Amino acid sequence: MYHNWEELERSIIGCKACKLCQNRTNIVFADGNKNADVMLIGEGPGADEDRIGIPFVGKAGQLMDKAFEGLRIDRSKLYIANIVKCRPPNNRVPEKEEAEACLNYLRNQVILVRPQIIVLMGSTALKNILGQEYGITSARGKWIQKKEILYMPTWHPAALLRDDTKKIEFWKDFKKIKEMAEEKKINILKEI
Ligand code: URA
Ligand code: SF4
Repeated sequence: MYHNWEELERSIIGCKACKLCQNRTNIVFADGNKNADVMLIGEGPGADEDRIGIPFVGKAGQLMDKAFEGLRIDRSKLYIANIVKCRPPNNRVPEKEEAEACLNYLRNQVILVRPQIIVLMGSTALKNILGQEYGITSARGKWIQKKEILYMPTWHPAALLRDDTKKIEFWKDFKKIKEMAEEKKINILKEI
């Protein structure tokens, strides 16, 4: 466990803890505000993220940004990371060994950010953080309190690309997150 960002960020440079290191261009560590009260967790980098080194900058990320624009959520006030930091070939789901190898970094990120709310986007984030017994279809849209943290599972933004119903549900889930943030006096909104 690293006690500051400098040490943690240094520790991941050149990581070869799993086979996803073999095809990566960039390790995609995180984006956003290290002091955020709301943290978002996705699955793993896609092609655009691998090329640029920032999470959620490709098609799915742009769709997420569009939802945030509509809800007046300021992406730069959130902290955004993934279960695995290197791109799985052909965007396949990370294997158990890969997720396990990479999770220590994410756990350390959670400890350093100390968010009050964690949004789990998609099945991979949900199962690796809260447990394999959870399913995204039944868990999404409902708050789960564990220790000091409130979790909101929702769809992965890539799932919205194929399904308008999921778009509406994703929007509703983030509306709940916005309301909870307001209740907790957490500011995640764009200034006007
Ligand atoms: N999908 C993810 O899960 N994470 C990203 O950063 C981009 C796409
Ligand atoms: Fe290391 Fe994570 Fe990349 Fe695997 S996915 S090589 S554990 S940084």
